[in-house]
Amino acid sequence: MKHYSIAIDGPAGAGKSTIAKKVAKHLNFIYVDTGAMYRALALYFIRNNIAVTDKDEIEKSCDNVEVTIEYMKGEQQVLLNGENVSHLIRTEEVGNMASASSVYPVVRLKLVQLQRNLAKKANVVMDGREIGTFVLPDADLKIYLTASSIERARRRFLELQERGVTADINEIEKDIIERDMRDMNREFAPLKQADDAILVDSSQMTIDQVAETIIKYYQQNIINKELEY
Ligand code: DC
Repeated sequence: MKHYSIAIDGPAGAGKSTIAKKVAKHLNFIYVDTGAMYRALALYFIRNNIAVTDKDEIEKSCDNVEVTIEYMKGEQQVLLNGENVSHLIRTEEVGNMASASSVYPVVRLKLVQLQRNLAKKANVVMDGREIGTFVLPDADLKIYLTASSIERARRRFLELQERGVTADINEIEKDIIERDMRDMNREFAPLKQADDAILVDSSQMTIDQVAETIIKYYQQNIINKELEY
C-alpha cells in the first residue's frame, strides 16, 4: 500500500514543528519530529559526559544506545533506551549538543533508518534538516520553511518571555545564526533546500496561513500526480 509523505526542512526556529503538527492533524497523517531523535541522543552524550569532539566515544556509544518512537494520544514520544525523555530534551544545551553531534555520519545513519521505517508504515509529515534531500528523496511534497534570523529570534524571545524566562534577543539571534552555520555547513547531509522543494518564507505569515499554504500545495501535487497516471 502506498503511503504519502510530506517533508518539511528548514533552519531552527522557522516554525517547522508547529506547522508540521497542524498539517498532519488536518490530513490525518502522523507527525514525525526528527529533531527530537537527535536531541534524545544528545541527552545521552551529555548524561554520559561524552565530549562532542570525542568521535571514538560518540561512535562507540551509538552501538549501545537505542532511540525509539511511540505515540501517546497522537503526540510523538521519544524513548532513550526505553526511558521516555520527551520532556527533557527541549533545553538550549540539548539543542546545541544535538546540532554539534549530528555532524557525525554514524549518528545520522542510525536515526535515518528509524525515520525511513516510520515513513514506510504510515502517511507522514516529517520535519528536519535533510528530509527532502536525503531521508525521503521521493516525498510527495517537499517544503523548505524559513524565516529571517531576527524574526526567528523574536519568536523564541516571546516564547521564553511567556514562560517567565528572561533572555537577550541579540544573544538568541547570535545563537540561531551559529546553529544555521553549523547545520548548513556540515559535510554529511547538510541543511539545504532540495531542488524540487517549494520555498516558504514564514517571516510575514501567520501559523495558519503557512499551514493552509502547505495543505494547498500538497493537494495540488497529489491531483497532478494522479493525472499523470
Ligand atoms: O529541529 P531541532 O531544533 O529539534 O533540531 C536540533 C538539532 O538536531 C539541529 O540543530 C540539527 C539536528 N538535526 C539534524 O541534523 N537533522 C534533522 N533531521 C533534525 C535535527
